[in-house]
Amino acid sequence: MDTQNVILHARFAPNGTVVEISERPDGLTPQAWFNFLSDKAGDVYQTLAGGRGVFRLTREELTALKQGPRRSRPDQPEERVMGSEEIDVFVICASDEIERGGAKAFSLSRLDASGESRPFPIVVIRSHDNAYVGYVNACPHDGVWLNIGSGDFFTQDRAFLKCGRHGATFEIDSGLCIGGPCSGKNLEPIALAVVDGEVCLCGERLVEDDRPFSAFDDHDETMEIMIHPD
Ligand code: FES
Repeated sequence: MDTQNVILHARFAPNGTVVEISERPDGLTPQAWFNFLSDKAGDVYQTLAGGRGVFRLTREELTALKQGPRRSRPDQPEERVMGSEEIDVFVICASDEIERGGAKAFSLSRLDASGESRPFPIVVIRSHDNAYVGYVNACPHDGVWLNIGSGDFFTQDRAFLKCGRHGATFEIDSGLCIGGPCSGKNLEPIALAVVDGEVCLCGERLVEDDRPFSAFDDHDETMEIMIHPD
């Protein structure tokens, strides 16, 4: 088994489209390769500042993934590779709305596989070294919001994320639970890109819900739901 680690770098244009991504198979557009990786390996994607992001894979995983995408033929436009869908990119907030070492929750709605609108609570964390990571705001133990109760996402020393219900703790950069009733499980990651000073959510089909505000309004403070009832 080839366990050598490979880091694939993605770079985004100001409008959120993928400009380039490394290890791109011949015949795939950068956007198509990013979409494919997000779908198959979204859990190892990390958002970086400056309109960049990385996938961390082993060489073996990368080799297997490269077999997956259909390649374009010379007589086919590249846009038809892996379908003609463009990736959905939604602005969540301005990047400086989250302080370094802080986190913010957002209550969104997305379409599930059957086309139904479902609540989609997320949390976006900004690390001290200015990387942004995001997770579905649901504890793997019992599904509650991590910030249930006190509204805080962090352990007292702020070194880990924690669940306010039974105290499970999670690594901030990986979402791995390292203590508590769901030890060994992972928070569900979301794909973020920081583009032109804005934190964007990639690859989700967001929808407006019944609340009296639009979840699509960039900077609408009412879309932030910070304290959830216990
Ligand atoms: S619900 Fe999170 S630890 Fe139990």
